[in-house]
Amino acid sequence: MTTAHDPAVPADLASGTLTYPFHDWSQQLSPHYARLRETGPPLCPVVAEYTGDRLWLVTRYATAVQVLEDPRLSSADAMASGSPRQEPVELRAPGTRGNGVALLKEAGLRAVFADGLGPRAVRRHHEWIRERADTLMHELVQRRDTFDLAREFALPLARETASRFLLGPLGADEGEQLIRWADLSLRFCGATAEQMVAAFTDMHQYFLTHARRLADAPGEHLLKTVATTTGAGRLSDADLAEVAELFLVAGYPTSSGFLCGALITLLRHPEAVMALHRDPALVPAAVEELLRHTPLSTGAARRRATEDVQVDGMTIKAGDVVLVSMEAVNHDPEAFEEPDAFLLGRQGPAHFGFGRGLHFCPGNRLARCLIDAMVRTVARHPGLRLAVEPEEIRWHEGLFFRRPQTIPASW
Ligand code: HEM
Repeated sequence: MTTAHDPAVPADLASGTLTYPFHDWSQQLSPHYARLRETGPPLCPVVAEYTGDRLWLVTRYATAVQVLEDPRLSSADAMASGSPRQEPVELRAPGTRGNGVALLKEAGLRAVFADGLGPRAVRRHHEWIRERADTLMHELVQRRDTFDLAREFALPLARETASRFLLGPLGADEGEQLIRWADLSLRFCGATAEQMVAAFTDMHQYFLTHARRLADAPGEHLLKTVATTTGAGRLSDADLAEVAELFLVAGYPTSSGFLCGALITLLRHPEAVMALHRDPALVPAAVEELLRHTPLSTGAARRRATEDVQVDGMTIKAGDVVLVSMEAVNHDPEAFEEPDAFLLGRQGPAHFGFGRGLHFCPGNRLARCLIDAMVRTVARHPGLRLAVEPEEIRWHEGLFFRRPQTIPASW
């Protein structure tokens, strides 16, 4: 990939020395995003800190729409072995495909997968999710001391939902172990490359042994649905293990991290919580504004050009990888007025919380259901408070999906 020598381009972009990711592990987005959006070209050249690969970074809403809607910019190619990448290691156990979505498609199970995450499936679990959120919160506020909304509310809610809806009945120890592997493998730093690869390998070994048992266990979960559908495809044990890995890594760190971040956003806006308390009809708008406002990923979605592609007057050469930061796009002032404000009555274009185009998050309904349950529970408890200043909250460093270590709160 080559960079034009335009005098208007910031020096670190022109010299190709700006490294990515930006190490913004807390909710505070790196100022680099705003600077690149305002002064950089539509596609900003960056160097991947952990691989040295040269990549393009997109931070503007209008450019992101073009990139994510263009089928010549391929997600599967970006995930393939040997592709330029932002992560320190390839996101797969050695010898595996590492792309459960492609595997489901090739097995003829794409529609089954989409239906299994669709509105009817989510409705079946909806009441349970709301009741579980209420029960967890009720137990906390009864105690009237300081509690941890991450460990005692958001994480168990996300973990139990992933078990009930996605993977099947996991024991508490099993669930904890899977989460440790996910945390170890889905990160930019804070573990060695050997530890990350070992975590992928251990997770894969676990699912090779247990995915079929989980799929056969009682309950109405997605792993069972894809494993027992006859017709177009029947997944081998090795394929089923990869699909289970997909459900875990796509479904749990995202939901748990996002619930934590969204809780903090709400508690930083007591006036919004009071408005939601008075008028629960505002909850769906609050869910969408949380998805726009609350940053989750510390990296970016990636696509690889299958041929030369023109975007905003620049050429992405065949084989180049483009990164799109959903967080930067969601805070683009060209698309959203006062982008850093949390506004329940916001009007504006669709947010990028679940992405856009061909790879729009298929888990969005389940995720929205979880966030909705969390918002309703918080709105019923308008006395809920952070027990520390927001700046004092400590965040896990290096994770792909932001998550605080604790959310100290009181009632
Ligand atoms: C708050 C929670 C969640 C958020 C914010 C979120 C966000 C996203 C985003 C932004 C993408 C697009 C990535 C891209 O364009 O490359 C995506 C893709 C995906 N998400 Fe989610 N997600 C969440 C929860 C879930 C859940 C619960 C599942 C359930 C399995 C899930 C499964 C997937 C899958 C399989 C993809 C890849 C789709 C594809 O490549 O075609 N997500 N998600």
